[in-house]
Parts: sequence; structure tokens; C-alpha cells
Amino acid sequence: MKILVGNWKSNGNMADKNKMIRALERTNTDIKIILSLPYTLLSGNNNKKIAICAQDISEHPNGPFTGDISGQMIKDTGAKYVLIGHSERRTNHQETDKIAKNKAIMAIKNGLIPIICIGETLSEYKSKKTKTIIKKMLLDCTPDSGKFIVAYEPRWAIGTGITATKTDVQTIHQMIFDILKTKGQEKTPILFGGSITAKNVCEFINIPHVDGFIVGGASLKPATFLPIIDQMNKKTSKPKTKVTNHGKQNRKCKKRS
Ligand code: 13P
Repeated sequence: MKILVGNWKSNGNMADKNKMIRALERTNTDIKIILSLPYTLLSGNNNKKIAICAQDISEHPNGPFTGDISGQMIKDTGAKYVLIGHSERRTNHQETDKIAKNKAIMAIKNGLIPIICIGETLSEYKSKKTKTIIKKMLLDCTPDSGKFIVAYEPRWAIGTGITATKTDVQTIHQMIFDILKTKGQEKTPILFGGSITAKNVCEFINIPHVDGFIVGGASLKPATFLPIIDQMNKKTSKPKTKVTNHGKQNRKCKKRS
């Protein structure tokens, strides 16, 4: 089953969330939909088909850590997943691989599934260090046991409108899979992200070991998020979309210009 994560980052209010949930409820799909929401919107989801994800977790358990949100608190909201080490956390809050690993372990301890984000910077990409960097991040951030998801997002592709090439994605996802396999973790889903939209998603759907996507900007509104689901439905083996009238103009997966 393919996975689609919509990462709302620091956006959205209760009305936006309800609108999105209602729109997703009308969409018939086999894709596992996960909404990664701000803490303020985590609770109150009764829809079994749509899973909720937090965007961060405290390294600490409950206790004297003012401002921190613990794993136990996230679990209590009904959320099932938590993003770990997103590049915006790494850049804006100096989160290291060590912190990411501690947070991933904390998530698992609390019955949450961590979605561990890794990705190289533009200068690392330009100096052809991507494979070395990704290998190190993967080994340093992932726990030795427990269920988790890996999300590969080249940092230079996030919010820029520039996506990685198919060849690069194929090479990196294969490498991630091979490394996980050596640790007996080959069942771990591997997601791809960075400027994914309905127009480019089908370039990447059938790449081996691309088990789904993590989407930022295009996940904020049904008009841009649902067409991604439509495209994924069309390209995966059992299409089941009840055709929506969202984003008609986005139906075709256009060739890169
Ligand atoms: P964009 O899809 O806006 O590039 O964001 C990607 C992302 O950061 C998802 O976590």
C-alpha cells in the first residue's frame, strides 16, 4: 500500500482541517493517507481511514520541560505517527542526528510510528556527497528495533519548486533500501518528498522502493492535495478513485519543461 503524508508545517486552523477531512472522506482510495498537523490540530479525528501525525516530539518524558510535548501527550491525542528530524527542525532548531534518533526511540516507546526525515543540502548535492551524507544520516538517525518510516527529502527541493531527477531518486531509494536490508529492516517504507505536486508525482510513483510521498505546500488545500491522490490511484495497480472535481486542470502528469 502506498503512503501519502501531507505535512502542513506551521499552517492551518480547525476549519481548514475539517474541510480537508471532509474532502478526504469523499475520496475512495487504497492509499494510506497521513496528515501531519500542528499540535493544536492533532486531536478530534474520528476518521479511521485518515491517520494523524505530529511534527515533532520531545526527547523527554512528561516532567519539568516547559513547552515540550511528550510522546505520551501525542499518543493521547489519537495521533499515530510523528515526524522526526524534518529539515526545518534541523535548520531552525539545530536538531542533530543524535537528537533525531533519541526522538525516534521516544516515539516508538510511546507507541507512535516515527517518520524519520533525511536529506542533503544543496552544497552537498552539488559536491556529489549525497550518497555519503544520506548513508550517514540513515545509520545515525534510525533505531535498531521498532517500526518506523524513512522520508528522503533533498533539502534543496523543499518548497523550491525544484524536484530531484528520477535517476537520483532511484539511486538514493535503492541505497536506503539496501542499507535497511542489511539491518533486517527491509520492510520499512521509504517516502520521497520535495516540491511534489499532482503535475510531477507520477514521474516517481513507479520507482522501485518509492513507497509513497511526503508533501508540504500542495497538501494544504483539497484542490491541490486530492489531485495527487488521483494521480497515485491511476498509477498504482488497483485504481479506485471516485472521481472528484478537485483540481481538474491538474489531472495530467506533465513532462518536465
Ligand atoms: P514542499 O512539498 O512544500 O516542497 O515541502 C516538502 C516537505 O517539507 C514535506 O515535509
